This record gives sequence, structure tokens and C-alpha cells, in this order.
Amino acid sequence: ATATAQVTVQVDRPGAVIHREIYGQFAEQLGRGIDEGIWVGEGSPIANVHGFRKDVVDALKAIHVPVIRWPGGCYADEYRWRDGIGPRAKRPVRANYSWGGEEHNAVGTHEFMDFAELVGAQAYLAANMGTGSPREMSDWLEYLTGDGQTDLARERRANGRAKPWKVAYLGIGNESWGCGGHMRGVYYADQYRQYATFARALGGQTLVKVASGANADDYAWTEAVMAGAAEQIDAFGVHYYTLPSGDWKHKGSAVAFGEDAWIATLKAALHIDELIARHSAIMDKYDPARRITLAVDEWGTWYDTEPGASALYQQNSLRDAMVAAVTLGIFHAHAERVRMANIAQMVNVLQAMILTDKGRMVLTPTYHVFDLYQVFQDATSLPAQVRADDYVHDGVRVPGLFATAARGTDGAVHVALVNPDPTRALRVALALPGWKAGKVSGRVLSAPKIDAINTFERPDAVKPVAFDGATVGSDGVVAVSMPAKAIVVLELR
Ligand code: AHR
Repeated sequence: ATATAQVTVQVDRPGAVIHREIYGQFAEQLGRGIDEGIWVGEGSPIANVHGFRKDVVDALKAIHVPVIRWPGGCYADEYRWRDGIGPRAKRPVRANYSWGGEEHNAVGTHEFMDFAELVGAQAYLAANMGTGSPREMSDWLEYLTGDGQTDLARERRANGRAKPWKVAYLGIGNESWGCGGHMRGVYYADQYRQYATFARALGGQTLVKVASGANADDYAWTEAVMAGAAEQIDAFGVHYYTLPSGDWKHKGSAVAFGEDAWIATLKAALHIDELIARHSAIMDKYDPARRITLAVDEWGTWYDTEPGASALYQQNSLRDAMVAAVTLGIFHAHAERVRMANIAQMVNVLQAMILTDKGRMVLTPTYHVFDLYQVFQDATSLPAQVRADDYVHDGVRVPGLFATAARGTDGAVHVALVNPDPTRALRVALALPGWKAGKVSGRVLSAPKIDAINTFERPDAVKPVAFDGATVGSDGVVAVSMPAKAIVVLELR
């Protein structure tokens, strides 16, 4: 079946800039996220650059990852930065209390910062508030950024890095309401003020200090932390995970699911819009000028871990691509306040960009959305109104079409359209009043089945291809023939 829909993009009413940092990622010391996924060591038969997998580095470079958060997550609040410097063979081995297994500390400060530089990303370091101290945190910053002759700067040089590093973001505590110490908001706000006072970078660097924000809809946390510490906060984190079932004990499978789970997952993902709006409204009370960024520093799908797989390993299907596309569109709509985000996580963990198996690597459908949406990095958002019938399945209802638009840094107008319906194609009339495109081109991501995945045997099952279903009419309206369950990104010039 085919239905019709209308989209209006107001090219003459530019909105906020979509900060490239909303395309950020998260890499935690857990499972095979870092070891094996990113790091194989210099002596590995797998092609590597200073120990980092070349295939993975190249793939990440290709999507211009703007910022990477490390070393956690929950793990950040048990991490001792001194464990990860000096000769690798002498580094201590610690239990990973958060995620199980042992941490050999092969990837420490030098390696992570090197990795971020290889990828071309800014560093977002998460400091340990849970079991650390302000002294430990400030020493780490001095070690990283010191440009003079202090002992810590000299120690860094002796360990092989002459120049100071740039630390763009510093998280102070992670999920401090939970794994980061089960604090109450008022107590955290005071702790945050103390840590933030001593969170200083040398060499004139400015640090964006990120407070541990709320768990999903815990608005009382936001109220308490904003009331207690707004002046010291540069960015306020919010974490939200999309679970098909909504039940943390039985989240649902990443693969082989039906349409019920497909629509339930999309519906759950869309909830982030309300969360952003409501946290932002509380922030507005304390920060009406919107100086403080709302950083969604953990987001993505979270399914049941595959039996026998490493911690938090899950496959990634067309459904994850849909979640990524609609979530990024929501971030665009809140671009004025949401100026950083980090999908959880980068490789082999949760909604990953990349899966690896020894020497093999696969790019996930989510990776392809980050690729298609690159054009939105630093673009200027444009209002997009949609008129379409809802997509309804078994009494569950979501919009039948999503649209997001922006004027790219390349001067073109980019419009992403997401048709979530697995069976209904759409004929979309895309109007751009007051502006006329001379030509249109695009790419489309879809697959024959909703649970289509890329595997090591068939790595290209879900992959964008050129889209030739759009034409500019003599009236300037662009006619778009969208397939079912598809993401189309158009470029109009
Ligand atoms: O991303 C996995 C975990 O989810 C993080 O460590 C934690 O912050 C969150 O609960």
C-alpha cells in the first residue's frame, strides 16, 4: 500500500546550529568495547596503528566522530588514572566491579588520548567522584594539560607525550544517583561544587564541566542539582536507554523480533523528546539564557545480552537504525539546548557503530545512519512540519513520518525523512516555500525485513544506496517516493 504525506521545510526561518558534538560517542572499559574492539596492541596480527585497529579507526574517521567519552560510565567511578600510565607490562590488574572481568589497563590515558587524536575526536574524560578525590582528579588534569615544569607535566613527558593534550569535556561523577554512589541530589550538588572548584586545566584551556544528570524522568534530581550548583555547571547530562519491553529484567531480544517489538521500541525511543523538554524546562528556571548544555551523554537501545557473548554485546538491526534516526532528529529539534550527546556505545557494546570478531569487522545499520546524517553536523536547523497519518500496530501509535532539515555547512539544504511503517510506502510532497531547489539527490537505508542485520558473513545486508525517488516539480515541490521502513536523506541545491 502507498499513502501520502506532506512536509514543509521553512528555509527562510533558520533556527539553532546543530552542534556536531551531538554525534558524539561513548567508549567504556567493559566487555570487548575497548580491548579487541578498538585496541589489539602493537604486536597483533590485526592491522593496527599504535595498537588501535586500523579498520575501526578508518571507519570512525569516515563518519567524523566529534567527541568520545571515556573511561565510563559506571566504570569511571572506580577508575584510578594512575593505573593506566607508564610501561604497559607493569600496569596493575584490577577487578572491573561494574561489569565483571579484569582490567589490564592496556588502554590508559596516553592510549585513549592517542586514539581520540587518531580518530580526530575531542576527548570527554569522566572523572572519578565515586571512589576518587578532588586531588586525584586535579592531578590527572595537570598530568594531561600541564605545559610547564611541574612534576606531573614532566612525568607525562617521561611517559612519551611532549605536548599537553586538550581536554574538551570533563564529567564529574557518572550516574551519581546510582552506580556512581547512590547520592541524593542535594548531596551531589555540593560534591559537584567542590570537585568543580578543583577541575582546572592548565595552558589557558577551557574545560566544559559536565554534571551527572538525571536518570530518565527523575526531574527531582535535575531540580536539586540545578538549584544547588547551576553556576558551576557547563553541561548537564541526561541518560536514557530505549528498551523494547520497558522492563530491565527482560529487555527483549536484539534479533528475531516481530512488529510488536519494532513499534514498541520506536515508541520508547520517542519518549526522549518529552524528557529533553521537561529537563530543559527545569534548567530554564536556573539558566534562562541557556548557557548550560543539556548533554545526552548516554543514549541508545539496550537489549538482552546475547547468550555467551561479552558484556553488553548485542546485534544491531534496521530497528536500531530507525531509533538512531528519530533520536538524532529529536536532538536537532532541541539544538538550542542539546549541544552534546554520546551514543552508548562505540564498538561491541549496546547500540554499537561497529562489531568485531577477531580480525573481522562489521559496520552496523546504526553506523550507516551516523554516516548519512553527517551532513547535519554544524548545520543550521530549519523548521520542518509533517502531515501524515500515524503508523498504528496492535493499538500502539507513532507518527507515520519523521522529518528533520537543516542548511549544511556546504550550503545545501538537507532533509532526512523516516518512514517507520514496515509495509506502507509513502508519496511525500516536500514543500520549501520561498525557496526553489534546482536539483535533488539522496541516499536511502532500508532492508527487506525489519530485523535485518549485518553479520560477519553478510556485512552489507543493510547499507545505504543511492536514492532516485525524488524529483523537483515545476512548482518547486519535491515529490518523494519513500519505500516502507526506510530512512532517506535528501540533498537539495
Ligand atoms: O552504558 C552502560 C552503562 O549504562 C554505563 O556504564 C552507565 O552509566 C549506564 O547505567
